[in-house]
Amino acid sequence: MPAKLIDGKQIAADKRQQIKVKVQELAEKGLVPGLAVILVGENPASQSYVKGKIRDCKEVGIHSELIRLPETVTEEELLAEVVRLNRAPSIHGILVQLPLPKQISEDKVIETIAPEKDVDGFHPVNLGKMMIGQDCFEPCTPAGIIEMLHACKIRIAGKHVIIVGRSHIVGKPASQLFLNHDATVTICHSRTTPLAEYTKQADILVVAVGHAGLIGAEDIKPGAIVVDVGMNRNADGKLVGDVEFPEVSQKASFITPVPGGVGPMTRVMLLENTVKAALASDG
Ligand code: GUN
Repeated sequence: MPAKLIDGKQIAADKRQQIKVKVQELAEKGLVPGLAVILVGENPASQSYVKGKIRDCKEVGIHSELIRLPETVTEEELLAEVVRLNRAPSIHGILVQLPLPKQISEDKVIETIAPEKDVDGFHPVNLGKMMIGQDCFEPCTPAGIIEMLHACKIRIAGKHVIIVGRSHIVGKPASQLFLNHDATVTICHSRTTPLAEYTKQADILVVAVGHAGLIGAEDIKPGAIVVDVGMNRNADGKLVGDVEFPEVSQKASFITPVPGGVGPMTRVMLLENTVKAALASDG
């Protein structure tokens, strides 16, 4: 495999270790960072993500609270819970696991979270600050991608970064973060044709669509850096990304695996944002 593997699992483990030391120092001064996670309903993927987030908190010494609400919860009840957590002094970060049932407006829920506790970085205040380059909570997946490229000493400034996917959680904020790091950024999406004409121009290709096999070796430039954000189950039930890893890894210079690439980085950035929120609350 000519491409070097960007080992998100290892980079995240190293980062968790650093966060653990920081949390211990803060705890000795009487400041224990606290994260509240709200999980609505029984979606298996959401349950699994939330379980991982709570486990990570335990590992580094962050206080965590899991609030489980039934699928039938009303928007009013959920908003009341968010308001209670906004006021709770032991809670510095609030995460409402998405997606939410259809009777609830996700936008309204996100806008109700206090921006200073919005460790997901989804609140319009944080997104607006990111847009004008101010200090803010950066969304965890894009921030994790930047962090893993830094860990591999990959320069971003001046590179042509092509992002495939324009979601609010990954594609759009990733484009802004790469721009803030002086990249030239192109966003592609479902209406971009022909997609390969764009992806072949990428020095750094970020693929966040949720479509197994979307990017093959013929779709990239030799030596490209490929970041695969996709999480799909193939016919055998195996977790795969959006990129045909076996062939693309023969042509790229760096590549992230799935699993063990972007996923662990997303999780560790949530811990980092929670520590940041706790520090900011300390005045
Ligand atoms: N659902 C899928 N990814 C995420 C995430 O990063 N944060 C939240 N809150 N929900 C999600």
